[in-house]
Amino acid sequence: MVGIIERYRHLWQLGDVQEVVTLGEGRTPLIPVRPPWPQGRGPTVWGKLEGCNPTGSFKDRGMTVAMTMARAAGKRVALCASTGNTAASAAAYAARAGMRAVVVIPGGKVAPGKLLQVQAHGALLLEVEGAFDVALAALRRAMESQPDWELVNSVNPWRILGQESAAYEIVEDLGRAPDLLVIPVGNAGNITAYHRGFRRLGVKPPRFIGGQAEGAASMVEGRDIEHPETVASAIRIGKPVSRQFAQEAVRETHGAFVAVSDREILEAQAALAHQGIFVEPASATPYAVLGKLWRQGELPMDSNLVVTLIFTGHGLKDSDTALRNFLPRRAHWDGVPSTLAALVQGEVEHV
Ligand code: F0G
Repeated sequence: MVGIIERYRHLWQLGDVQEVVTLGEGRTPLIPVRPPWPQGRGPTVWGKLEGCNPTGSFKDRGMTVAMTMARAAGKRVALCASTGNTAASAAAYAARAGMRAVVVIPGGKVAPGKLLQVQAHGALLLEVEGAFDVALAALRRAMESQPDWELVNSVNPWRILGQESAAYEIVEDLGRAPDLLVIPVGNAGNITAYHRGFRRLGVKPPRFIGGQAEGAASMVEGRDIEHPETVASAIRIGKPVSRQFAQEAVRETHGAFVAVSDREILEAQAALAHQGIFVEPASATPYAVLGKLWRQGELPMDSNLVVTLIFTGHGLKDSDTALRNFLPRRAHWDGVPSTLAALVQGEVEHV
């Protein structure tokens, strides 16, 4: 089966839509993660690699449904405001659907890989002054009375519905819901989707821990942030549209919102990269949050507990930040075998 619509539409009401717009999203790996505490104790930690989706982020799960329904309704243009990943996904799925895509981004604040994706798929890129929230508000005003246009931000209910599929997959893989689920929160659509996903299956949902960057911690602080700022540009958002649903998810499951500093986010990105998992800064937030909860003694060190971290986007998306976070380890080799042997020996001893 190709894509999440084919696999899960029996749970949804999509009507008799026949032509599905898909790039084969979903079925992302859930792999064991070395925890940020000494190994051999505490909960089991799993990471869901959402960067393995076709455009390198979880957005594809929502985009396949939103674009399928938009095309079926005769829409010709898909528009979104974005910190980058929604834009990349909208551009790819619109291209697949034979529709036009127009993406509005905060000028100068979107990671290069995401801009490249928008360019590659031939979408129109519009830059506005101000953060994501300004872009989304302006776009929503401009959308009024445009019958051919479809807004594919997470205010589009099909987006959230599609993103529920990640929760279904976790339950399939674990045989149940995890006890704790840690997820980055920006516009708060994805945490809403997971919550609805577990509820739709009728399983007991995990405790939801929403991770945010300190400079954009609107949920943690319970207020809008006028000028959000963080190295994790994907979640540089000050006025989450789905704030109320995210609050419900956390309240109902006795979870929490937790903020971490940019330094903690970059350290988490490095700790994950050093175990082979390359995620963009926003997606390293759950690992940073887990480390913080453990250090503060707020995480039960119970080996029966299962924690799932949602790694929302691939590390290659934000090469600028990664190139600053990871210094190259290079040496010159003169081609002589004995020199190589010495270099390799040094590498074996390198810690
Ligand atoms: N992680 C990544 C990599 C993201 O791109 C986003 C959101 C989030 C987490 C947060 O998800 O907004 O549902 O709470 N990116 C959006 C975008 C806003 O435009 O690409 P959320």
